[in-house]
Amino acid sequence: MPLSSASFFSFETPPSSLSYLFIIMSELYTPEERSAEYENYSKTSSQYDATRVEVGIEFMTAAFASVGPMAKLNLLDAGCGTGSYIDAFRGKVQGVVGVDLNQGMLDQAERKFQDDPNVTLKQGSLVDIPCEDNQFDAAMCNQVIHHLAEGEGEERFQGIQKLANEVFRVLRPGAVFTLNLSTPEQTEDGFWWASLIPDAVEVMTKRCPNVSELHEMLSNAGFTIIQTTALKDEVLQGENYLDPRGPLKSEWRDGDSTWSLVSESELSTAMKFVEEMNSDGKMPSYIDDREQRRQQVGQTTSILALKAE
Ligand SMILES: C[S@@+](CC[C@H](N)C(=O)[O-])C[C@H]1O[C@@H](n2cnc3c(N)ncnc32)[C@H](O)[C@@H]1O
Repeated sequence: MPLSSASFFSFETPPSSLSYLFIIMSELYTPEERSAEYENYSKTSSQYDATRVEVGIEFMTAAFASVGPMAKLNLLDAGCGTGSYIDAFRGKVQGVVGVDLNQGMLDQAERKFQDDPNVTLKQGSLVDIPCEDNQFDAAMCNQVIHHLAEGEGEERFQGIQKLANEVFRVLRPGAVFTLNLSTPEQTEDGFWWASLIPDAVEVMTKRCPNVSELHEMLSNAGFTIIQTTALKDEVLQGENYLDPRGPLKSEWRDGDSTWSLVSESELSTAMKFVEEMNSDGKMPSYIDDREQRRQQVGQTTSILALKAE
């Protein structure tokens, strides 16, 4: 639908600049594009690999090995980003197809795999996966689903349900699907810095389904849930995670989508707090206290689901 002036004058009270942004986004982009683009991966893709490490590799390896000999598997990476997880499995499986919406992320992946005939990259949306039915023996989807949630009401997980339906369609009977995500509880307590930016965290938690909502969506798609595990010993930011001055650096903040939801005023309050805590010597105990919570809940959860024969 074209951007129309009528949208701007239909309010009884003047909309905030955020409302204007939402109107413009809603009219210019499809729901899938909007959900992917709240974080500007076209900008952050070149630094993405420096801010993240892979988690759940052991979980996925065991899951894929349960299907049959790894060397014969045809694997889908749904939302492959820069291809870090493809890199972890290529050479071990027969072939990997990576699908992602963002061309900047795909360009980074393309550089890594241009000489590997067993890796194929496709630009497309996970609500309409550009692959044939029954094509894959296994699929993985890591840290993507919060991008497919939209709005605040009960309908907000429709995109995630579509993703589950689409992954089910492209898997063959007997194939497995591993999904890694942060639950609302993990989004709040699995990251030491989350208490610095409560408003952004609250917005993010609405984008994250809890485990029972995910089980329901996967079951609706036709999957059987085999295993659900909170990964309590792995952190997404690797050795940079505990940097007590991390929140002061934009490249460090770029490693997590929640920071992309922070307002300027919340960011400046958080940065002031971090500066003060570091100079008062109080930061280590602040982080220790927060870390006790992470050790209870973990940062992410991995789910293994089966498309029964
Ligand atoms: C946090 S990154 C994770 C990338 C990769 N799985 C990893 O863990 O390194 C989220 C990825 O999801 C992609 N994405 C978001 N919405 C999408 C959609 N509707 N279809 C396909 N990809 C999407 C983004 O472009 C981005 O590359």
